[in-house]
Parts: sequence; structure tokens; C-alpha cells
Amino acid sequence: MKKQMFSIALTSLLAAAVMAGCGTGTSQPPAQPQNGQELAGQPSGEKKTLTMATSADYKPYEFHDLTSGKDEIVGFDVDIAKYIGEQLGYEVQVNDMNFDGLVPALQTNRADFVMAGMTPTPERQKNVDFSEIYYDAKNTIVSKKESNVTKPDQLAGKKVAVQLGSIQESAAKELAKTATGLQITSLNKTGEIIEEVKTGRVDAAILEDTVAKGFVESNPGLQYTTIETEEVNGSAIAFPKGSKHVDEFNQVIKKMQENGEMDKLIKKWFGQ
Ligand code: ARG
Repeated sequence: MKKQMFSIALTSLLAAAVMAGCGTGTSQPPAQPQNGQELAGQPSGEKKTLTMATSADYKPYEFHDLTSGKDEIVGFDVDIAKYIGEQLGYEVQVNDMNFDGLVPALQTNRADFVMAGMTPTPERQKNVDFSEIYYDAKNTIVSKKESNVTKPDQLAGKKVAVQLGSIQESAAKELAKTATGLQITSLNKTGEIIEEVKTGRVDAAILEDTVAKGFVESNPGLQYTTIETEEVNGSAIAFPKGSKHVDEFNQVIKKMQENGEMDKLIKKWFGQ
């Protein structure tokens, strides 16, 4: 009961943060001074608010939920962040931006952490620190149902859409080395990528399995095929280099894996 009340309070706080971010609402987080001008992570009195940056185009990890009549960012990552915040005594404010702006936001202290289904690649590890991996994913090829573009070697001479700054963009660049004539279109939001496939402006997209599944379910004209490789990509929480939050976040992730909370959230958002 207590927990439920907390999450309701937090949800409305998040909603307020989202609305403030969009400039569409006048509501402010209750009993909290505004800190819009401050850099994230700076101490400000008693308040312990952490700013989470994300790219809320990644259902079921993070997406805009309009069903309640207000614009709320919800999803697997948001629930994990709320749980961690609850355990460690932080309020979490969610800030939506483009995926390729997330690492720079950490580097310039405009966010305390990033949760965005982000894979801890060696390249990113040069610029940010990561938590342990909390969920796995594989790449897929998304195409129209009547299309026979379902395998990497069929991408030669084809137009392929990917998210700007994502590992799928890197994967497409890698494929282009052998698949001659593969042309890459890099876009900011996954919804735009799906539009490109639907309208036929591109032949295919590369997206992660769980996200592709959702898009295909709501767009029956599309299909997705998992790219068979040994490689599994995981999601981890990213922090500014040297952040003191890495250890405490890892401790809560471990606890969630042990006490069943993680499985509960996986069931809730991935249905498995
Ligand atoms: N896992 C991929 C990566 O780290 C894609 C993540 C995209 N996330 C998002 N919220 N759009 O590059």
C-alpha cells in the first residue's frame, strides 16, 4: 500500500516534469524549488532529485503514454529507475531527448544517469560509466510483409533506416562493408524509422527484437526477423564518468534480480 502511494506520487511528479519540459503545463513538482537552471548532480539543500535522460521512443523501455489524457513517459526503464530511486531516497525526473544526445548530456552534467535501453559498448565506455547489464536484446531486420529483405546478405543495394547514434547504426555501417550498395538513413526517433519502412522510402530497418515486436504488432503490414549472430546486446544504465551513483545503483539492480522485482517488471513490460 505504502509503495503504491509512493509510485502514484512519483508518477504525477514525473508527469509534472514532462509537462514542464514541454512547456505545456504550469504545474510544478510539489514543495520542491525549481532547479531548471542548475546542472544535474549539483547539491541543492535537502533535495535529492536525480535527472534521468532518455529517448522516449522505445516501447516498452520508455515511451509517451497518452492514455490517461496527459503525456507521461512510462516503461520498463522508468519503472526500474523509480524503484531504484525509491530504494535510495531520490526523486527521479525524466528528461526526453534524442538518443544521440544522451551520452553528451552525461558528459556535460545535464543528466545524472541515462536509461534508454542503452548497450554498454566499448566505444561508449570511453566516455561514460555503465551499471551491470539488466536486460538482453538482439537485432532484427524490420521490413514490409511482402518484402523478401529479411536477412543481412539481402541488404546489398537496399536502403536501411536506423536510429542515429545507436548500435544498430554501427551494425548497418559494418554490414555496408560487405553488402555492396547498402544505403543508410539515420533518424532520431524509432517512430520515424517505422514510417520510412511503411511508406517504402526505405527497404528495411534494423531494430532490437522487443521494440520491433511492438511495432509489428501495431503495424500488421510489417514483419521482423532476428539477425542470427552469437552477439547479444544488453541494456545498462549510463552515468557520467566517475559518478558515485554507479555502485549504489548496481546494488539495487542486484537486489531486484534476487527479490523477484526485476522478473515482475520483465513480465509487466515484455510479457514473458
Ligand atoms: N540498444 C541500442 C543502443 O544502445 C538502441 C537503444 C535505443 N534506445 C532508445 N531509447 N531509443 O544503441
